[in-house]
Amino acid sequence: MANPVSTTYGSHSSIERIVWTDDDDNNQINQKKSFAWHWCFRCCFIGSLVAGIGLAIVLAFWLTSKTTTTTETLTQKTTVSTSTMSTTLATTTTTISTSNWLINGDGETGSCQVGYGITSPTGWMYNGPVTQIYYSASDGDLNSTTSGPSNRGQCYFYGQISNVTSMWQYVNLTSSINPVLIDNQTVRFNFSAWLGGYYDQDDNVQVSLMFINQLNQAVGSTVVLGPVLAIDRGNVSKLLFRQTSGLVPTNARSLLVTATMIRTAGIAYNDGCVDNIYLYFYQ
Ligand SMILES: *[C@@H]1O[C@H](CO)[C@@H](O)[C@H](O)[C@H]1NC(C)=O
Ligand SMILES: *[C@@H]1O[C@H](CO)[C@@H](O)[C@H](O)[C@H]1NC(C)=O
Ligand SMILES: *[C@@H]1O[C@H](CO)[C@@H](O)[C@H](O)[C@H]1NC(C)=O
Ligand SMILES: *[C@@H]1O[C@H](CO)[C@@H](O)[C@H](O)[C@H]1NC(C)=O
Ligand SMILES: *[C@@H]1O[C@H](CO)[C@@H](O)[C@H](O)[C@H]1NC(C)=O
Ligand SMILES: *[C@@H]1O[C@H](CO)[C@@H](O)[C@H](O)[C@H]1NC(C)=O
Repeated sequence: MANPVSTTYGSHSSIERIVWTDDDDNNQINQKKSFAWHWCFRCCFIGSLVAGIGLAIVLAFWLTSKTTTTTETLTQKTTVSTSTMSTTLATTTTTISTSNWLINGDGETGSCQVGYGITSPTGWMYNGPVTQIYYSASDGDLNSTTSGPSNRGQCYFYGQISNVTSMWQYVNLTSSINPVLIDNQTVRFNFSAWLGGYYDQDDNVQVSLMFINQLNQAVGSTVVLGPVLAIDRGNVSKLLFRQTSGLVPTNARSLLVTATMIRTAGIAYNDGCVDNIYLYFYQ
């Protein structure tokens, strides 16, 4: 089998031989010319080859140094954002409070009604005669032995009189929770309350939780606890536990909790009753 390498060498040497062994005078000048052209061509070729390689090396060096600079910049940026993130994360994780986020959600702060009158709830905005009342009040719907929360304390809220009364409060989420954690769906809520009413009447309470974005618009879906009706209570005056949990929606920055007491029976007392409205956040 023919060796392609030796074949190449053979043809090479035959060209050389032709160049060096020709002694025809007429052809001498032509030979010299072509010899000169040959070397000139070679020089040019090798020269441009060397120049090309040089240029390539310079280019390579330049590109490498550029890439290195970019990489260094990127690395620095990554390091900065990573350290920022871990700092905020650490802070946030420790600042999501484990206590109720609502002010006076359990009706134990401020004064409570002892009789027939109206005592507006402490820490809540309100509309109508909604009243914070003692379980021991002479004219209340509930008492200390009524079926309800074991940690009921002294007081609860009820509608008192009129068809509809309500109380509400806003909560700022970003004062304690990093919005980044909300926006990537890392924060969950646990919302609960004890709801009920009087005897066989359907007077009731609904407690809603609405999340609000930076533009003061509602985001996500509003969560509603209740109503608990007479049929749910078996016509017995009592409070029943209602609870829901879920993800805090993206873009939520604050929230609104509203308790609405609705009268369905009679023209006098609005017997919608509620206690221990709790709102927790966790990761
Ligand atoms: C307390 O209320 C319950 C209904 O929730 C009632 O059955 C009971 O008689 C009441 N107790 C007193 C001492 O009024
Ligand atoms: C209250 O509700 C009753 C029906 O339950 C209705 O007849 C009355 O007009 C309502 N009053 C007001 C002020 O809306
Ligand atoms: C909520 O709290 C944050 C941080 O304290 C504050 O920047 C922001 O203005 C507050 N938002 C409202 C609506 O009060
Ligand atoms: C949310 O962001 C935090 C902080 O960057 C990160 O630790 C967590 O894994 C992210 N969670 C999701 C569900 O993207
Ligand atoms: C929510 O909180 C209630 C107490 O208010 C508790 O019984 C319940 O287990 C909690 N649920 C979750 C999912 O954390
Ligand atoms: C509850 O009261 C309603 C009306 O007073 C009555 O029709 C119903 O039978 C009662 N249900 C029970 C379980 O006592």
